[in-house]
Order: sequence, then C-alpha cells, then structure tokens
Amino acid sequence: MSFNEIFNNLDHWKKLILSSTSFQALTKTKTDLLGKKGLITSAFKSMQTLSVDEKKEFGAKINEIKEELESAFSEQQKKLEDYEIASKLRTELIDVTLPSNLHIGSKHLITQTIKRIKSFYQARGFDVIDGPELETEFYNFDALNIPEHHPARQSQDTFYVKNQAGRLLRTQTSSVQIHTLQKIQGPVRMISIGKTYRNDQLDATHSPMFHQMEGLVVDEKPLSIGHLKNELKKFIGFFFDVDDVSIRFRPSFFPFTEPSMEFDCRYKKVNGNVVLHKDGDRWLELGGAGIVHPNVFKNCGIDKKLYGFAWGIGVDRITMLKYGVSDIRNLFDTDNRFLKHYK
Ligand code: DAH
Repeated sequence: MSFNEIFNNLDHWKKLILSSTSFQALTKTKTDLLGKKGLITSAFKSMQTLSVDEKKEFGAKINEIKEELESAFSEQQKKLEDYEIASKLRTELIDVTLPSNLHIGSKHLITQTIKRIKSFYQARGFDVIDGPELETEFYNFDALNIPEHHPARQSQDTFYVKNQAGRLLRTQTSSVQIHTLQKIQGPVRMISIGKTYRNDQLDATHSPMFHQMEGLVVDEKPLSIGHLKNELKKFIGFFFDVDDVSIRFRPSFFPFTEPSMEFDCRYKKVNGNVVLHKDGDRWLELGGAGIVHPNVFKNCGIDKKLYGFAWGIGVDRITMLKYGVSDIRNLFDTDNRFLKHYK
C-alpha cells in the first residue's frame, strides 16, 4: 500500500475501530494495522528507500496516523470494557433485599443443656468426666454390684454386641463411677453426662438412646444423706432457676447404693406447665440416689475406708420438663422447626 493510500484510509480505519463490537474484532484490526507485520509497521520499514527529506515528511505523517489510530483503539477498548461491566451488572444482579436462604446451624437443645450443667459443676470444683459408651459387663454391671440374676442384665434391657462376649452399650452412666474410682482410688467430686442405651420401644417417654447424668462425691470423712440432699437441691435450684427447692426421698433399691432412694421435687401446674415451687402440691420424680455401697469401692480395688454418695438424673427428662417438651421423640427426630425454636 502506498503512502498516499495509507493517508486516505485513515478515516475508514477509524470508523472500523470505533464500530468494533467485540474485543476479538478490535484485536484483529489492531494486529492488521499496528502489529509486527501490520500496515503501519510495514510503512515505516519501507521508508528506508526514501531520501532524507522524504523520510522527514512521511515519517511525521505516519507517526501522526499511528497516534490517531492508537487513541481510537484505546477509546474503543474502554467502551467495550464499560459495556461488558454494565451487562454483567445487569445479568448477575444480586438483590440484597431478598430474604437469605442461608441456614446457620445452632446447638441442639440437649447439647446446650449438657453445656450448662457441666459449667455449673465445673464452677463448683467438680471434675467432669467422660466415659465410654461401648462398655463391658464389668463396668456396667459387675463392679456396680449388680448380680448376674438382676433383671437389668437380661438382654431385653441391654444391647449386647454380637459375637463379643461381655461387650454392651452402657445402660447407665453409673459405669463412669467405676472408671473414676479405679483411677483415683480416693476422694473425688465428679459428674459425667452422656448417652445411654436400652432396648426400649420408642414412644413419647422412652427412647432406646437417651442421656443420663451421674454424680459422685467421695470423701475420707463420713458423708450423710443430708449432704446428698443439699447437693441435689443446689443442682435442681440452678437447673430450674428457682431459689428454694423442696425435695423428698422415697426408699428404693439400686445395687450400688445402700441405702437407695428416689428423689422427687415439689411443683405446681401453672397453665398446664410444670413450675417448681416449694409450696407446690404435686411431686415430680427426678432421679435415683444413695450412699455408695462398700462393694463398689471394693470392686474398684480400694481397701481404705471411704464414704460416698451418688445420684443419677435423666437429662432428657429434666430438659423436657424445663422447656415444656412433651414428647422425647422431638429431641431426636431432627425436625428443623424444633431445632430452630430452641436455638
Ligand atoms: N443408674 C441409675 C439408673 O439408670 C440411676 C442411679 C440411681 C444412679 C442411684 C446413681 C444412684 O448414681 O446412686 O436408673
């Protein structure tokens, strides 16, 4: 292409550049004109054969054209970029006023309750101890002075592990008393909370998996039922948020305590809800307790004289009472509405 042709084409090229509708088209035109083998570059090269004066004249002109083309290219490049951003904004629009569908998890009511109970006892100097859910007959029964013929041993209550003699899912957290005493061999104040298992039919008040809390206080000095009662009153007052708790003991039987008792707490019904009250006219059964049987210490390899009291409470039951949950299945059937309600 002659120099004159180049000069005459300037307007045509500018139009071509400024009407490009894609980055691809724009780049192609740029390569054709200003690329290594482009028209303008070749024009510069072909100036070698010209005289000095001609070089001056044409060189200045081509430089001018080159600059005009470059500015047209950057103008169009910017237009295309703006257009791209605008169309992205249009198609990828986010309406921040729409309700969010993010589901942020929360702690289950039982988890919250267990945490609360643990921190209550920790603050009072108790050890919080976890024990295994997969147990042996020794920890779940033998060491707790539960003789072989005791009904609790029969398989209707207990989940035994297939083909593993003496292996079972613990039926009570009392087994953690044994682990603790075996290890400590002396005075202790501990609680343990966790899952327990019994072969029960699932209904409104029974679940084959449930939660228990176990408490154990052991000392070298004599401990009385009065100490036990005081301990229980403190916990119940804390848990149900009441100042004055009225509890009573009823004689009962547990092989690992002697004497054994069950404890109840006075309450009133207010609008159908359970409200603990020291002047309540009804009694709520809360758990079992007693003075540690000497055989338990013996079975843990302790031969010095120790005194202790222990108690056990159904964690699901007291949680249901506190929060007005009438069906234990609500705790375990993972209905999101329930989980959200108690979050
Ligand atoms: N382990 C008993 C149960 O599952 C509850 C219990 C009763 C625990 C008396 C104790 C106790 O520590 O002293 O029914």
